[in-house]
Amino acid sequence: MDPKQTSKPSKNGFPHFMLKEIYEQPEAVRQTIEACVNSAGHIALPACRISDDDVKKLRKIEIAASGTSRHAGLAGEFMIERMTCIPVEVDFASQYCYRDPIVEPGELAVFISQSGTTVDTVAALHVARDKGSKTLAICNVADTPLTRDADARLLTYAGIETSIAATKSFTTQLTALFLLAAHIARVRGSSDAALDAALRLVRKLPDEIERALNQNDRCLALARKFSQYESFLFLGRDIDYPIALEGALKLKEVSYIHAEGYPTGEMKHGPSAMIDETVPVVVLAMRDQSNPASRLRFEKTLSNIRELSERGTPVIAVVSEGDRETITITPHVIEVPDVPVLLQPIVEVVPLQLFAYHVAVLKGRDVDAPRHLSKSVVVE
Ligand code: AGP
Repeated sequence: MDPKQTSKPSKNGFPHFMLKEIYEQPEAVRQTIEACVNSAGHIALPACRISDDDVKKLRKIEIAASGTSRHAGLAGEFMIERMTCIPVEVDFASQYCYRDPIVEPGELAVFISQSGTTVDTVAALHVARDKGSKTLAICNVADTPLTRDADARLLTYAGIETSIAATKSFTTQLTALFLLAAHIARVRGSSDAALDAALRLVRKLPDEIERALNQNDRCLALARKFSQYESFLFLGRDIDYPIALEGALKLKEVSYIHAEGYPTGEMKHGPSAMIDETVPVVVLAMRDQSNPASRLRFEKTLSNIRELSERGTPVIAVVSEGDRETITITPHVIEVPDVPVLLQPIVEVVPLQLFAYHVAVLKGRDVDAPRHLSKSVVVE
């Protein structure tokens, strides 16, 4: 898929572009990965024209984006910090422009956008550039105001995304951020063996997304059960929190149901007061058995699910394949492939996209063109 392609998009037998694009994710992610692998089979970012010297001198990375693209940035923060030890901050592109950001030597400002035309994101890039920061655009379209004005660019290969609700652009952004983190880690001295292992894991993603798509019937059944509820809470810990935000945004956008995303650990600091049997809670409860910190987070999440269930709150849980515990607490479980923590966002978002899609269809919404929304926000 060439991001420059201009041929008229077709639904290819799917009832809506959103569903078609959800199903295009394995291929979109595969294309994005292959564009970042060199002939020797190592991660390389050819169009990322930031010199190795500049990468070595990096002291901070600032990410700014809007909507779904910002959620990708929030997950990218975990990927980059854990793989490179460089501090990362993430902001709304609009807020970045207003706050007169402090840019110091050794800073890289990264702007993420499907379209490359979002007015706030382009304006944020100009602010960073004018303050002397190096700039990198992660974008799904090759020739845009964002890619033209950035020092460097990293393309995603989602192909044309027609549905207003972003799906495949999101998973390819997450993939690109993981590869960017690996690239920076390599330049700063991580071992080839560690990075080759990371590449092997990332290359399994298309198949793992395919397996997550096999949960479509389960998501439809849950949508039938829950489409009449008026408010949802989405919870996720650590790198799952941005996916809770994204799950809530997808549901809001296409079904017009009120939904909020929260860090699971914040539930008791306020949201608990509004949760009862009328507010279903969608909990991201994946765990990586090989990672002690992930196992600990899972135990805490399980205890939250138990508490919610005892209160009569319906809980939908997205869990790792092989988890036999969560199902003993809530019957509404969706299993996705068991992957390492930093790749979990890419598989766990898939059932949330499918759930939002089916709820919207059941409610008779204009799925591909929800009211009051446009594909790219070009006017403030
Ligand atoms: C996502 O479903 C929305 N369409 C919206 O939040 C979007 O992600 C945002 O407007 C940013 O767009 P961009 O990625 O094209 O910059």
